[in-house]
Parts: sequence; structure tokens; C-alpha cells
Amino acid sequence: MATFQTLPGFREFYPDALAQRNHIFRLWRQAAHAYGFAEYDAPVLEPLDLYRTKSGDEIEAQLFSFTDKGGREVALRPEMTPTVCPLVGEKVNALKRPIKWFSIAEFYRYERMQKGRGRCFNQFNADIFGEAGIEAETELIGLLTQCLCGFGLTDQDFYIRLSDRNLWFYYLEALGLDEARSRAMLTAVDRYEKLGDDAFKDYRTQFGELDPTLKENVLSFLSIRSLPELESALAPYALEKLTARLDEWRRLLTNLQAMGLGRFVEVDLGVVRGLAYYTGFVFEAFDRKGELRALAGGGRYDNLMGKLGYADLPAVGFAIGDMTFALLLEQRGLTPSLVHPPDVYAVIGGAKERLEAFGDIQQIRSAGYRVDYPLKDLAFGKQFKAAAESGAKLALIYGSEEIAKGVVKVRDLGDRSEQEVPRAQVFDHVRSYFSGH
Ligand code: HAM
Repeated sequence: MATFQTLPGFREFYPDALAQRNHIFRLWRQAAHAYGFAEYDAPVLEPLDLYRTKSGDEIEAQLFSFTDKGGREVALRPEMTPTVCPLVGEKVNALKRPIKWFSIAEFYRYERMQKGRGRCFNQFNADIFGEAGIEAETELIGLLTQCLCGFGLTDQDFYIRLSDRNLWFYYLEALGLDEARSRAMLTAVDRYEKLGDDAFKDYRTQFGELDPTLKENVLSFLSIRSLPELESALAPYALEKLTARLDEWRRLLTNLQAMGLGRFVEVDLGVVRGLAYYTGFVFEAFDRKGELRALAGGGRYDNLMGKLGYADLPAVGFAIGDMTFALLLEQRGLTPSLVHPPDVYAVIGGAKERLEAFGDIQQIRSAGYRVDYPLKDLAFGKQFKAAAESGAKLALIYGSEEIAKGVVKVRDLGDRSEQEVPRAQVFDHVRSYFSGH
């Protein structure tokens, strides 16, 4: 009979792999707590409408969706952002501002599989609601950096490309483009890295031949990599919105410098983000070598709460994916070996001694120490081999002789020293051994 295969793009986690994933989640959680974010969770299955138009065409086309037995159109969540908004919206008046929340959860997108991209993956999401100023971006870019640096990654390993949809719109307005043309141009900018000149095809189809000066201006804006370059590119334009926006850039970059994070952040207007809801600053994290797809992405989405029918509330956030991230850690040799050896291994003579050992094992385990023992009777030789291979520090030997004498033999598996301990003192002995090691 044929065995069942996992669906393409879905992952199984054997214990070693799950230990690695848990390690990643643990350090992400630690970073979020250090930044004062509170953890939440939400349903994995949502009404399909939540993602229609809100997430954007690309994600809509990738949804795992179906009609449930009650005739509802539903979808497995492809991202957290449209889900966290109603959570905030329902209790908005009761929540203390700013609302700083994070989650670690599983998402589903029917994507073409490639390195670092699957159909089921995990994201760490962090979002701030209720703060309209760049203080929220500062906090989130700080947290994003911490989430990566916590593993030993440095500015040699990754960087954050910072861009701004508002700045693009104001700049294109200053170049004389109306709203429809500006939107089409931003779509072209989004595709330019991948497609080169072909990225402008749709713009040309819609609006006719592309003015060479306009194209030159757009491409030179794309090549900007620092604040001074940005300032001089915008100097010729006297649009007030542009000047004010540039000031926000200065303040954000000054904050990040003051946090010591300047070296991680690069001005790069090539990032405009495919998702439909972003409104202002947007950012993405990449590996420095440029070998992997995005590690993380996010930005400001001040209108999404309103679009979902709640009172408007400014919001910014980002998500890190676990797949590219795990690849980067592996490439840099930063994946720790995560074996969790027992502290104690019990070597047991036979059925009678087993019943004697169980009480001690139970007591030691209840105090939080890891204890292992063979489930079935085994020769002593095999048990000592298993004890040594397990990585335990202590072996407790429950042989018939020891039991008859009312003792347990305790062997230090490091220096191989042995001592006999009265049965009633075994637990205290183990505890004092580990408090000294
Ligand atoms: P996103 O750019 O679609 O943003 O995803 C964020 C990260 O999730 C990506 O950089 C990538 O690491 C990971 N990711 C996305 N799709 C896949 C996939 N098919 N396989 C593996 N990893 C993937 C968002 O999802 C926004 N909701 C982030 C956000 C939060 N914006 C504001 N708050």
C-alpha cells in the first residue's frame, strides 16, 4: 500500500528540527519582551473577505480557501496583519496606548516553492497601534534588529532597507504625476529589481510612452543609498510636503543612530512592498550577501483599521519569516546543537528494583530535573552504555545488592567516582550535586 506523503510546501519537524525552531521562537520572544511587547494569538481560519482586497492581489491569489460546512467562505491566514486589526479594534478603548503586541504563528500561502519559501511557514509579527509618529518605526526597527542580533548575527550578515511610500508619492507629484500615474509608477518601481526595463511595461500600456527625463529621475531616486544623497536629490523641489517628510526621515535616522543601529539601516527606495495596505515608511531585511529572499518585511499601515470598519488608528509593524531566517543562521554557522541530555540516568537491576527506583525518579523529576531510565529490563552493561551516551551527569544505580543494603550507588559520569547514598537521602544528594554544578 502506498504511504501518505506530506503535501508539497508543508514541513514536518522531527525533534532535532523542532528544537531548532523552538530555539528561534524563544529568542524572538525574549527580544519582544525586552522591548515591552505583549503576546497575543488569533484564529488560523478566517472569513475569506478579510483578505480580499485588504492584503492585495498577490496574496489573494495565494490563499488556501474553501467553503466550510456552514456555507461560509473561509481562508487559512496568509498573514497576521488583517487579523490583528479586528483584535485591536474590538477592544480599542480598553487598551492602553501605545498598543505594542507580538505573536509567533503559522501561515499558509499557495506559493511556488523555492529556497526559503514554502506553503506553510511561521512568522514573528510585531506591531504598534496608536502612535502616528516615527517613534513607532524607531521602536520596531530596533526590535527587528534585536530579533536578528540575538542569535549572533551582525551588520556583516544582514541589513534593513528603509523606504517610504509617502516620499515616493510626494516626489512623483513634484515630478508632475497624478495619483493614477504615481500608483502605476510605484508598481513599476516594485518590479524594477526583478524585471529591469520591462517593469515599466504596464505603465506604458496605460499612459503611453515614458518621458525619458521622468524615467531618469525615477531611476536616480532608486539609486539613492544615504540621507545626504536623498537631501540633495530633493533640494530642487519646493513642495512643502516633501520638506516636512524629509524632516521625518532625519528624525527617524537620528533615533536609529542614537540606538547604535545606524549601521544596519540603508536608505533604499527600491522597497515599496507588494501588500496593499502600506501607507508610509516601509522596510525589509535582507542578508548582506544577497543570496536569500527577504528575511523580514513591514511598514506603516495607517488606513487598514478604518478599511476594516473600525475607528482609524495609526499602525506600524513587521514580520520575520522562520524559513529564510533558519537558512541564514545555518549559513553563518549560528545554529546551535540543541541536545537536551537528561541530568540523571537510573540504572535498574530488575522488576523489583524498578519499583524501588520509581519513587525516587518521580521525586527528582517533580523537582524539575531530567531523569531517564530504560523502560524494559536490560543487562547492566547495556544500561551503563546508554547512561554514558545519554549525556547525563549522574547515574543512580538500583542493583539488588544496593537495595538490600538500603542504599543507592551514585556514579558521577564525568569523573566516574562512586558513592553509596542511603535511600532516604537520594533526592537531597541529587539536588545538592546539581546546585554545585
Ligand atoms: P511579508 O513581506 O509578506 O509581510 O512577509 C514577511 C516575511 O515572512 C517575509 O520577509 C518572509 O521571510 C516570510 N514569508 C512570507 N511568505 C513566505 C512563504 N511563502 N514562505 C516562507 N516565508 C515567507 C507580511 O506578511 C506583513 N503582514 C508583515 C507586517 C506585519 N506588516 C505589518 N505588520
